[in-house]
Amino acid sequence: MKKTILAIETSCDETGIALVKAESHSTGLGQTNFPKFKVLKNLVSSQIKIHRPFGGVVPGLAKREHIKNLPLLLKKLLHSKFYILNSIDLIAVTVGPGLEPALWTGITFARELAEKYKKPLIGVNHLEGHLYSFLLTTHHKLPTAKKLFPAIALSVSGGHTVLLLMKNLKTCERLGETKDDAAGEAFDKVARMLNLHYPGGPEIEKMAKKGNPEAIAFPRPMLNQKNYDFSFSGLKTSVFYYLRDTKKVKVADIAASFQQAVIDVLISKTMRAAEDYGARSIILCGGVAANKKLRIDMKQEARNKKMNFSVPDMEYNNDNAAMIAAAAYMGLSRKKKYKIEANGDLNI
Ligand code: KG4
Ligand code: ZN
Repeated sequence: MKKTILAIETSCDETGIALVKAESHSTGLGQTNFPKFKVLKNLVSSQIKIHRPFGGVVPGLAKREHIKNLPLLLKKLLHSKFYILNSIDLIAVTVGPGLEPALWTGITFARELAEKYKKPLIGVNHLEGHLYSFLLTTHHKLPTAKKLFPAIALSVSGGHTVLLLMKNLKTCERLGETKDDAAGEAFDKVARMLNLHYPGGPEIEKMAKKGNPEAIAFPRPMLNQKNYDFSFSGLKTSVFYYLRDTKKVKVADIAASFQQAVIDVLISKTMRAAEDYGARSIILCGGVAANKKLRIDMKQEARNKKMNFSVPDMEYNNDNAAMIAAAAYMGLSRKKKYKIEANGDLNI
């Protein structure tokens, strides 16, 4: 099955439009190879600078910027591939989870395009986008399905932290998730306490390089609980009390110790699930997967346990539309379709 997909992503503060060619073919043994994705264009217009003065994403501003950016990005795409709108097979758009006013901008734009060019329109779950983003790689060869599954996938971003069991490429089961703040959200909130810029993840990572990860013994929340859930708000509060009660603070040590606490919890829960379910591989994805320390430590831990490790190429960790095209393609053979309307709380 060959498809050229135009995908649109507006769930938070990145406006994304991508053009992706997807193809899969049967091996003849009743088994399907991994689909091959060719990302022809992946345009992202980031609103970071606009939201930065507010220390986080302002939904009204995000909506305004998406409305402004979508036609500009499409024009840019058309300029480079002028023929595309007639030659594409389908349009895919993120329907949730995310900020509903932001989601609606992408949905309205996609609906109008689909109507104008008489193309089928598919709703995509943003979390599935992150989950399948590792398939977009051009830098390394993916392991075979036999070496990959069962897999434990950890999807960590600003909006969610979820641990999944993937029995194969199309079947996944939610094992656990955060009970309060998402991992990326904790990075963002702690960064704000430390007077670092939004988004906090990359800022804390930069600062942490100059600090000692063992300097402060921040708690590792829910580490010893026999479930696969996470909680980061207690850790965030510990940083708050530390800052309040300590006279001379070293920001780099706080950043390094906080980052290490988050990484320890993420790795330990993921590895426990991997052991419990006899996983052959670990898949890491979502915006927080851009954290190099997390990538390196998780890979090492997987290697120690003789498991494969997959993580998206750097350009596909943070929100983008290429991953939405990949998820749309993966969802084509599924009976259940997502409604083409914004659902801020959609889960996986
Ligand atoms: O996936 P994403 O772009 O958007 C959501 O779906 O939420 O993730 C954004 C989140 C932000 O919270 C950001 O601080 C975090 O990912 N992030 C990082 C890093 N880069 C982005 N967290 C830790 N280390 C990083 N290098
Ligand atoms: Zn995301």
